[in-house]
Amino acid sequence: MTEKSLPFTKEQLEAIISRFPTPFHIYDEKAMRANAQQFNQAFSWNEGFKEYYAIKAAPNPYLMKILRQEGFGIDCSSMAELEIAEQIGMRGEEIMFTSNDTPAYEFVKAMELGAIINLDDISHIEYLEKHAGLPELLCFRYNPGSLKEGNLIIGHPEEAKYGFTREQMFEGYRLAKAKGVKRFGIHTMVASNELDPGYFVETAEILFTLIAEISAELDIHIEFANLGGGIGIPYRPGQKPVDLTHMSNGIRQMYEKIIVGNGLAPLRIYFESGRAITGPYGYLVSKVLHIKDTYKKFAGLDACMVNLMRPALYGAYHHITVAGKENQPVTGTYDVTGSLCENNDKFAIDRQLPELQPDDIVVIHDTGAHGHAMGFNYNGKLKSAELLLRENGEVVQIRRAETIRDYFATLDFEGLGNFEV
Ligand SMILES: Cc1ncc(COP(=O)(O)O)c(C=O)c1O
Repeated sequence: MTEKSLPFTKEQLEAIISRFPTPFHIYDEKAMRANAQQFNQAFSWNEGFKEYYAIKAAPNPYLMKILRQEGFGIDCSSMAELEIAEQIGMRGEEIMFTSNDTPAYEFVKAMELGAIINLDDISHIEYLEKHAGLPELLCFRYNPGSLKEGNLIIGHPEEAKYGFTREQMFEGYRLAKAKGVKRFGIHTMVASNELDPGYFVETAEILFTLIAEISAELDIHIEFANLGGGIGIPYRPGQKPVDLTHMSNGIRQMYEKIIVGNGLAPLRIYFESGRAITGPYGYLVSKVLHIKDTYKKFAGLDACMVNLMRPALYGAYHHITVAGKENQPVTGTYDVTGSLCENNDKFAIDRQLPELQPDDIVVIHDTGAHGHAMGFNYNGKLKSAELLLRENGEVVQIRRAETIRDYFATLDFEGLGNFEV
């Protein structure tokens, strides 16, 4: 079971806030590294195992540089993410490019970097060939349709826009082989924020079985199976994190039975997790601006949905700790809000908290993935800085906060004078 605690005291936070004004996200390097090492350790039985960090979860090159040192690759889904990989100096099979509805220029860039290209649709084989040429190694994303249930965030596989059908997988490998592709991988992702380790064992079973069928029918060797992202994290106190060793052991059993049993080893196992890698190690730090008491009590923060969209978008739970009030009785009930002109700009509804006052430091947990990254600029609100708590306790800024100049950078105010109305 997880308790929700902070890696810093109120005094430490005050010292950080004196250098970097709230709101900001801060990431805990030590905890992030320890978790990355645990992940690798759990799959050390599989030669060539690799976790490709889904950079969309926290597209910050400083975090990626740390994860790369832990042996991680990068999973990119867009031009900007490919450029982050390039800036870090990542090349070749360190990069997985898993995109959908992909424009030609992104395929061209992915090919330039030598990334592993994971196609989302059978029609993309010819599209890729036409615009960027075909690589030696190609991967296809499988959508298992009714074989798998899916879950709330990602939906039912048959309704999802992603991936090839079962028949298209056979057809796709046949076509790619005929066009001269020599090396093959397979991918699927059918869950998001899933806490049941059995779910991933079942996914592996489905994918391994398909590998056996495809290999037998088409006489090709599939080198790796990418089991996607989607590993959940315990957002709520009391929830259990996914036991990686338990999950890995279950996948290993399927590997022995289906892959080894059919003479298909070796097969490298890959993941492209985001949330499970950085999610629990990020915190959104903000201050209470106003307490409002009308039909209910509202605690208005200096952060808003721009800094963290998940609660407004999915009704997602994020735990809240009031720094220095950890041991006070939770006698208040608050809607914890931001300042957008949107009533759903709330981090929490009817949350039991200690009595709050303006200037209290409110820390929102588990913002290290799909947190800062998802933000938008509605109402002209600016995205915050990102900080890193280093292993030696030092705090460094790894992204500055946006300024109003950044916000207006795409507008030509000077041209306004000559604009006739
Ligand atoms: C293709 C793909 N891979 C990986 C991920 C990462 O998922 P998670 O952060 O849930 O592990 C996502 C999430 O949107 C995705 O779309």
